[in-house]
Parts: sequence; structure tokens; C-alpha cells
Amino acid sequence: MQLAPSILSADFINLQRDVSALEAGGADLLHVDVMDGHFVPNLAFGPQVVQALRPITKLPLDVHLMMSHPEAYIDMFAAAGADTIMVHFESTPHIYHALQLIAQHHVKPGVVINPGTPVDALKSVLPLVGQVLIMTVNPGFGGQAFLPSTLEKVAHLDQIRQTDTTLTFDIEVDGGINDQTIQQAARAGADIFVAGSYIFGGHSVAEQITKLKGLIE
Ligand code: DX5
Ligand code: ZN
Repeated sequence: MQLAPSILSADFINLQRDVSALEAGGADLLHVDVMDGHFVPNLAFGPQVVQALRPITKLPLDVHLMMSHPEAYIDMFAAAGADTIMVHFESTPHIYHALQLIAQHHVKPGVVINPGTPVDALKSVLPLVGQVLIMTVNPGFGGQAFLPSTLEKVAHLDQIRQTDTTLTFDIEVDGGINDQTIQQAARAGADIFVAGSYIFGGHSVAEQITKLKGLIE
């Protein structure tokens, strides 16, 4: 079980301070949201931010690309120091190629599905990925409410990897994760939990991380 705080809810003027607090507070990964204003109706973080983060933290950088034509930017994010690069199934007609490209850079490839995309759509790419991210909100903004209908997709995916033991991916959930929903997602089979507003919305990030980790360990 791993907790991946999303820096989308950080104080951007004090990003280094916030990242240090997350690392000291027990974060397992750092989730970095990339948005292009086209695939999702918001803008966030380019490769320069990943590059700036790389030397200031030991935490693996979990890069979530919410962008059209992601294959054109994989080189840049890999060179910037991403440890995982995740591309949306819906964002490209060449998902297979995009995942192959990520693996060629010795970066962990991940595929992401929106709430409206079924798990079955992923069948042919599951052998290529180290991680599957099930969006538990519509992508684009922090602070939205968790969509309970996504839980059965997590359970379905967990069942697929239990049936076929050649598949080795982790299941990650992203959006609306708090002290209630994290337990529901864990029970359904998720291993990695992204949380933004819950972690930054409390008294201290360390306290919030401890609360969430206490519920899944
Ligand atoms: C939403 C992003 C999330 C976001 C989650 O599109 O992918 O990573 O930061 O934020 P919360 O935890 O506030 O829902
Ligand atoms: Zn994300």
C-alpha cells in the first residue's frame, strides 16, 4: 500500500517546502499532474517542474499525463526524471506505442482510464504496464467528490490480475480520496492512493498522511 500525495494542491510559491514536508511526513511517491487545457479543461505542470523537483526529493515521481498526443512528450518527461509515466487510454489512438515508448526509456509505464471507460478496454495493454490508474473523479481538478461507481472497476481489475498471474501491475486510484473513500478503494483492491486536497486541507500534511496511512496499513 502506497500513498502518493498530489502536488496539485500544494502551495506553488513554496513547492520545495511542501515537498520536503510530504517526504518527511511519510509520503511514498509524489504525484505530478500534467494538464494541457485540451484533453482536460485545466492547465498544470510541464517537464520543467518535474526537472526542478528531481534533485530536491528522493521520492519517486509519479507523472500523470492528462494531455492529447502524449507520445510527443514522453521523451521530455523521461529526461526530466519521471519514475512512472501514465498516459490516458482515451488520449491517443496509439496507446500501445505510447506505453512501449515509456518502457524504452526505462521508466515504469502506466495506463489511466476515465470514469466512463470500461476496464475491458485495457485488455491488450495490461501485459505492458506496471501500473493502472483508475480515475475516481473526472480528470482536471482537485477537490472533487469520489465517484462510487468506480469501485467496481477497481475490483474487476484486481480480479483480472488474480486470474492471470503473468500480469504484475499495481492498481492506483486518483480523485476524491479521503479518510472514508481510501478504505473503500483499499477493500476493492487498490494499492496506490493519490490524494491532494485531503492531504493539504488539514492541520499539517504529516498529520493527514499519518491518518490515511493508518487506514490502509
Ligand atoms: C485530478 C488529478 C488529481 C488531483 C486529485 O484530475 O488527477 O491527481 O490532484 O485531487 P483530490 O485528491 O483533491 O481529488
Ligand atoms: Zn492525477
